[in-house]
Amino acid sequence: MLTTRQPVLRRFWYPVMPVALVEQGPQPFTLLGERIVLWKVADGGYAAMADRCPHRSAALSKGWVDGDKIVCPYHGWAYDGAGACVRIPQRPDSNGLRGTAVKSFRCEARYGHLWVALDEPLSAIPDWSEEKDPGYRRIDQFYERWNCAPFRLMENSFDNAHIHFVHRGTFGDINDPNPPLPTIERFDYGFVARSDLRVYNNALQKKNLHDDSPFTVRHTTASWYLPFLRRLHIRYPSGLDHIIVTAATPIADDACQVVQFCFRNDIEQQAPAADIIAFDRKVTEEDRAILQGTDFDVPLDMNSGVERHMPSDQPGLLMRRMLLDLLAAHGETEHTRHYVSSPPHATRGEVSASYADGGVKGS
Ligand code: FES
Ligand code: FE
Repeated sequence: MLTTRQPVLRRFWYPVMPVALVEQGPQPFTLLGERIVLWKVADGGYAAMADRCPHRSAALSKGWVDGDKIVCPYHGWAYDGAGACVRIPQRPDSNGLRGTAVKSFRCEARYGHLWVALDEPLSAIPDWSEEKDPGYRRIDQFYERWNCAPFRLMENSFDNAHIHFVHRGTFGDINDPNPPLPTIERFDYGFVARSDLRVYNNALQKKNLHDDSPFTVRHTTASWYLPFLRRLHIRYPSGLDHIIVTAATPIADDACQVVQFCFRNDIEQQAPAADIIAFDRKVTEEDRAILQGTDFDVPLDMNSGVERHMPSDQPGLLMRRMLLDLLAAHGETEHTRHYVSSPPHATRGEVSASYADGGVKGS
């Protein structure tokens, strides 16, 4: 799938930038190939709009904010938070050119980040209660571009078999190559996968988990939210919660912005945020090294023969199926360089029977 060629993907919320960055002034971002500018409006709200002035196409992100307006750096035309042109300095008696506007997009601040939907959203930004729960702290971890398809990071996040190989330097145990299959339950626009995984407990994690055992068990509840958002709730035997939220916000067909933060129910004195970030940094670098070498044109058609599958791929196969169903429901076919897609219909992405019997409910 060539991510930017599927218009329905514009109908989801994506976290695009930490709020703190936008506090510094207008910022550019490219979402699904669309160049946008994010800026703070004087009333405390935030605006997202096309990063192109209708006069001579200058980037508004190179301009500045004047109260409740953003000013183009080229000739000073000014736009309000809805994108309407409200001032043209060369024509001071006018209130802008009637009907001149920059396309604006939905923009909301949640979890310390600005979220943008380019078209009418099909689902809401998830509500995670830990954000307002005084028993939890939020630690902002990563904000960086990865040169891989956003889908690759999503399927990786639900792929228990990669852990003991890719993460053999941190928490994987290469002597235990065949982890149990998760149980999976679907919901509208996503699913939940549950697993119990025995993993290695290295020196840094012993500190972070307040646990000296050589191995520990991760009780994981991993939620996938179509198309490129996941929440991984890891509960350790001590009752410690480490809840990682990762978005692979789509930039282009071959690139995504990784936005990651976590919630913890311990305190800084027990496990410094810097140590928690340091461990997750190593883990994500291990994934990144592999994923940036994968094909960004992920074939969604599971029977195409372009990629071969094994039982532990089940969550990724279900993702393919649900994406194909989403495309079909919106009259789209998969855009890919690998094969010619057939007309949309909702059954084309069936998970083959041998991989569908591992506890998928409601599918
Ligand atoms: Fe923006 Fe001229 S290009 S005011
Ligand atoms: Fe991984």
